[in-house]
Amino acid sequence: MAEKQEMLTDSSKKHIKVLFLYFSFSGQTGVIVNRLSAGLKDQGIKVVFEKLKPLKHLRFPVSSILRTFAMMLTTFCRKRVPIQELSSKCNREYDLIILAGPTWSYNPSGPVLFFLDKYGEEVLGGREVLPLISCRGYWKQHWRGLRRKLKKCGAHFSNLIAFTHPNPEPWCTIGVFLKIAGKNPERSSFIGKHYTRFGHSNHQMEEAYRFGKMIGESLRDGTPLAEINFHTDLALP
Ligand SMILES: Cc1cc2nc3c(=O)[nH]c(=O)nc-3n(C[C@H](O)[C@H](O)[C@H](O)COP(=O)(O)O)c2cc1C
Repeated sequence: MAEKQEMLTDSSKKHIKVLFLYFSFSGQTGVIVNRLSAGLKDQGIKVVFEKLKPLKHLRFPVSSILRTFAMMLTTFCRKRVPIQELSSKCNREYDLIILAGPTWSYNPSGPVLFFLDKYGEEVLGGREVLPLISCRGYWKQHWRGLRRKLKKCGAHFSNLIAFTHPNPEPWCTIGVFLKIAGKNPERSSFIGKHYTRFGHSNHQMEEAYRFGKMIGESLRDGTPLAEINFHTDLALP
């Protein structure tokens, strides 16, 4: 009896651990990851971060319209962006790995593609993975490609989180393009009337926090992640 009690205490003491493996170019995935992790931590979950760092620093903003067009073109061709060696954090065991990053020309970003090619099987194979996408407005093709790659790596996944920028079109596309090119569309007397802010809204950040809490609860209670509804007014439109 005492032995059983001891075992129970041991298992309740065991920390549930989540690894955030992510890349962020202009900071948007970064803020979502931040709020999601805050929600998890508030549920008593231990969180670990591994940021994918390109070997050659990618400067944001890109600083010219021409370079932004060139980037759109190379990313459309799924150009891989080599990343630095992963840290030893990625060799440990986790209850869940959250793989997060932006959409680049309908695809996962170059650093995430490189990660999947080089380390995907080793780090994600046989593990529970929850993908997280941050994008301007169109995540479906990205998700199709990512799903194929995750399957190839042998990862287990059953759900998806995607946040799109809340601005109306076509101003959202114009605004994001100009922002990447290093302009300030919010301050333009004409575009600024329709485009007031780059990226995700504060309400979406709070939604990410709520999602983090729900994931924490699900991990603690041992219920399937697939049962969590990430389709809300603020995410996965
Ligand atoms: C090169 C490039 C291509 C992009 N292509 C798309 C796209 O095809 N669809 C989309 O919805 N957003 C696209 N975006 C916008 C980003 O996905 C969006 O701004 C995202 O929130 C950025 O996340 P990050 O700040 O973590 O890098 C693109 C951004 C860049 C830099």
